[in-house]
Formats: sequence, structure tokens, C-alpha cells
Amino acid sequence: QQPVRIAPSILSADFANLGAEVRAVDAAGADYIHIDVMDGHFVPNLTIGPMVVQALRPHSAKVFDVHLMISPVDNFVTAFAKAGADIITVHPEAGAHTHRTLQLIRSLGKKAGVALNPATPVSVLDYIMDDVDMILVMSVNPGFGGQSFINSQKDKIRAIRQRIDAVTAGTSRVIDLEVDGGINAEMAPVAISAGADVLVAGTATFQGGPEAYADNIRRLRGPL
Ligand code: DX5
Ligand code: ZN
Repeated sequence: QQPVRIAPSILSADFANLGAEVRAVDAAGADYIHIDVMDGHFVPNLTIGPMVVQALRPHSAKVFDVHLMISPVDNFVTAFAKAGADIITVHPEAGAHTHRTLQLIRSLGKKAGVALNPATPVSVLDYIMDDVDMILVMSVNPGFGGQSFINSQKDKIRAIRQRIDAVTAGTSRVIDLEVDGGINAEMAPVAISAGADVLVAGTATFQGGPEAYADNIRRLRGPL
């Protein structure tokens, strides 16, 4: 388990001021910028495309953590890589050939992530552990910010932590374990103690406006 990194989800930012919002969370101590891409088909909401990612790129040098909730996903992987994504995460249900998609992401020089919906079993990882740089556990059903953490996902986080530790032991490999959905000051320590090392937080980061971002992010890291 690596030191905790905080990834504010800009889904909860002011969409009329996205550049300023990204600069503000960067200055407030965000580690990654989490960008939720939704297609109104794989999930019941529509957000942003590669043009917006490209427009945001000059506003922060932090890791752009792009979470694709789109199906079919393969057609858009290259566009998001070119737009400036650093990590590209896909859902196995969003394409017939997850292994190929992960290889495509890596072939573009990007880190490859796989996202597990609340009902997706850990066994989906069985034959792709060598092909991922990040595993994202959805602790809410994807589509919207502001939902509550689904408690059953704690066991899943623990199980995945064990798998990551087993395959990385004695090697220099790093696989991030990211948890996304319903993370606030109360649930952050729960996710961390279950094994998470990257926490996505939309509502909990952006509540209270720009003056509150630094405190909000600090609170998610837990007591110093
Ligand atoms: C949900 C997205 C999340 C969401 C998290 O589909 O993947 O990243 O923005 O929002 P909060 O932190 O408000 O639960
Ligand atoms: Zn997300």
C-alpha cells in the first residue's frame, strides 16, 4: 500500500469555470485530477469528452486520471490519450476485449486502469493482473456524484489489496488501488484501512467553494 493520494473528481466542480477549478484543487494539494467521462449509455449521465480534457491540460501538471464510463470504449482510448490523460481506466463491461483495451492504453504510453462496478466480482481480475497499473473499486453505482458509499465494497477492497500485494511482492511493480464514490472524511479512513491508496472525492472536495478545498483535501488524508 502506497501513501494515500487524493483525486478530486471534477464532476462536482463548477462546469462553467473548469479551468479555474482545476487550478484551485491543484493548488489545494490534489495529487491526481479525476475526470469522469460518461456517455449517457453505459451510465445514465453525460459529461465531457476529449476536447475538454485537452482544454484542461495546460491548467495543471498533476496526473490526469481519466475514468471512462463509455461503451464501446475502444474507439475513444486514443483520443483521450492524445488529449493528455495519464491514467486511462475502463470498465470490463464496456467492451468485449478488456485485455486488448488495456494493452492499447499501455501501447499509447499511458497507465492502464480497470474499474469494478459494485456488482462486478473480483474474479474479473483473474487474467489481467499483469496488464493493469491501477484497479478502481466503484463504491457507488457510476453515473452521479453525491451518492453514499456501499458497505459491501469494503470486503472487495480488502480482497483486491491482498491480490495486489501477492503479485507485487518482491518486485518493483506498483498497482494503485483507487476507491471512487461516497468518499468523505468519515469513509476515507475506512477505505484506507481496507487497503485503498488513491481516494476519489467529488462532493467532499468541492463543497464550500475554493476557499475550502485545501482543508477538504487535508481532511481526506486523515489525521497527520
Ligand atoms: C461516479 C464517478 C465518481 C463521482 C464521485 O460515477 O465515477 O468519480 O464523481 O463523486 P462523490 O465523491 O461525490 O461520490
Ligand atoms: Zn470516477
